[in-house]
Amino acid sequence: MPITDTITPAGAYYRPAAPARVATRRRLLMCRPRHYDVTYSINPWMNPQLATDNALAVRQWEALRDLYLELGHVVEEIDPLDGLPDMVFAANGATVVDGRVYGARFRHAERTAEGPAYLRWLEGRGYKDVLWPEFVNEGEGDFLTVGRRILAGTGFRTDPRSHLEAQEFLGLPVTSLTLVNPDYYHLDTALAVLSDDEVMYYPAAFSPGSQAVLRAMFPGAVLASAEDAAVFGLNAFSDGRHVLLPAAATGLHAQLRARGFEPVGVELSELLKAGGSVKCCTLELRDR
Ligand code: ARG
Repeated sequence: MPITDTITPAGAYYRPAAPARVATRRRLLMCRPRHYDVTYSINPWMNPQLATDNALAVRQWEALRDLYLELGHVVEEIDPLDGLPDMVFAANGATVVDGRVYGARFRHAERTAEGPAYLRWLEGRGYKDVLWPEFVNEGEGDFLTVGRRILAGTGFRTDPRSHLEAQEFLGLPVTSLTLVNPDYYHLDTALAVLSDDEVMYYPAAFSPGSQAVLRAMFPGAVLASAEDAAVFGLNAFSDGRHVLLPAAATGLHAQLRARGFEPVGVELSELLKAGGSVKCCTLELRDR
């Protein structure tokens, strides 16, 4: 303890333990899980034999949407389409940066119709700088924007050739990262963006080379435990101050608080049955 603490009121020497965090208002696109169900399996979390409760999924999703609204964000909604039970995972619908829309082309036939549906919605909202991609990529599931650069996942869903395509179209440097654990099949299940220069991630989800890249780029990153990763704690959304993430990721909540963030616990157990949570339900519309 500094000696001054014993002779001066502590307040006079108050220094914040962590930087003050400032939230910025975001524009978000979400898709109500009206047709949500687990009818096929394209990731290890999905078991079509298990029952899903659609009404509960809708209530949990509405609670997330209401939380965004309470925090002052703008939430737009795209109409869910019958026959597309995974369409609730709006993050996969596109990557929108500086008002440019890099479309999604899904890996699995079960979801391919979602790509054009999201693109049409965005075009209808006035986005003109739109690219229908040549290569498979699952939108913000695998493309995460950190300030003025983009981290891009590959290994399970997104074709690494799309990383260059996105870099060329969006005009920001793209860093490729290889995912190696099928439980963390999208980048946004293994890594979350906290601010313009901070991330949190689960190292074991990445190849050794990609772990080294992440250490070099973000030496002070929050590292998630296996337990926090397994409850989808990294499928989080941050506005720079509030970090919305699964309530069960208690270790991450503590680490975030220690860094001056305000973690907000969310319950999306029904959507976890399809292998998704907070971030998967949220596509950020980054206008110029
Ligand atoms: N069932 C969906 C799939 O496997 C879940 C997608 C989750 N989305 C995400 N951004 N990680 O494609």
